[in-house]
Amino acid sequence: MNKKKIGFIGFGSMGSMILNGFIDSGSINAGEVVVSNRTLSKLKELEEKYPEIEISEKNTNLAKKCNRIFIFVNTGEVKNVLDEINKYLVKDSHIIHISAGLSLETLEKSFSVKITRVIPSLTSEVKEGVSLVCHNDKVNLEEKKFVEDIFNHISQVKVVGEEDLDISTDLTSCGPAFMALIIKKFADFGADRSGISEKECEEMVLQTLKGTVKLLTEKEMTFDELISRVATKGGITEEGIKSLEKDLPAVFENLFNSTSNKRKNLKEDLNKQYNFN
Ligand SMILES: NC(=O)c1ccc[n+]([C@@H]2O[C@H](COP(=O)([O-])OP(=O)(O)OC[C@H]3O[C@@H](n4cnc5c(N)ncnc54)[C@H](OP(=O)(O)O)[C@@H]3O)[C@@H](O)[C@H]2O)c1
Repeated sequence: MNKKKIGFIGFGSMGSMILNGFIDSGSINAGEVVVSNRTLSKLKELEEKYPEIEISEKNTNLAKKCNRIFIFVNTGEVKNVLDEINKYLVKDSHIIHISAGLSLETLEKSFSVKITRVIPSLTSEVKEGVSLVCHNDKVNLEEKKFVEDIFNHISQVKVVGEEDLDISTDLTSCGPAFMALIIKKFADFGADRSGISEKECEEMVLQTLKGTVKLLTEKEMTFDELISRVATKGGITEEGIKSLEKDLPAVFENLFNSTSNKRKNLKEDLNKQYNFN
């Protein structure tokens, strides 16, 4: 059978953002896509938007038609999906998954296929941010290029070794949530200590953040240059910077420790699911 189509299993928060992003950006034609999702009704809108897309009621039917298969289901479901489609996987099958904590080594022990891990970011919703990419040894140059090119249409691709994937994930994929909380707390403290509402403080901080990002990106200022331009010697900002320099290392130490512990537990659970310790 000609397996030229590209398969997408799972159309939830990430799956819908990525697939819509690929098609909207023109990196993939809707006509070459087969998509499946546990709850079929969730695909109705997609089907209406792109009538050329093939909806597959079963993951197995999708696997019969596709060598390139993106798996966007919940982490705990990946094994069930792979067990289900395993008999249709061939030497050239290339599985691309996005599940945190599910290593190449874990999957390779059970499934002898080409595997790419991608850690996407919600920021791809606005075609910004970083997608982390990591391939196993079986993936050839052309297959690597295919994945990296299409994710480059919705983000900036950063290829990393798997040993650095966890910390990079904290920075780029968990990052938007961490940054949003830090910014919100900063604004809310301003509201607590003034007569200005939380909403107004959040707006002020958001505009300041937009300007800061522009200085760092469009004007290509370094972080240190920007800080020294604002925190003039003997001034008020300098005192604030000293306070942050003292307190932030412990905050980030705790943050990275907590994500690392959670990941360790998740990996232990996944190892049990994949039957080895
Ligand atoms: N959220 C993030 O920022 C983020 C970032 C990086 C990586 N990830 C990873 O992305 C993965 C998906 O996360 P998500 O936030 O997109 O989850 P989600 O919104 O729950 O989406 C999962 C989708 O998979 C479908 N599904 C589950 N089992 C299936 C099966 N056996 N066959 C076909 N479809 C199936 C679900 O169908 P139903 O419609 O029936 O529920 C749902 O639409 C997770 O592994 C997560 O670790 C998420």
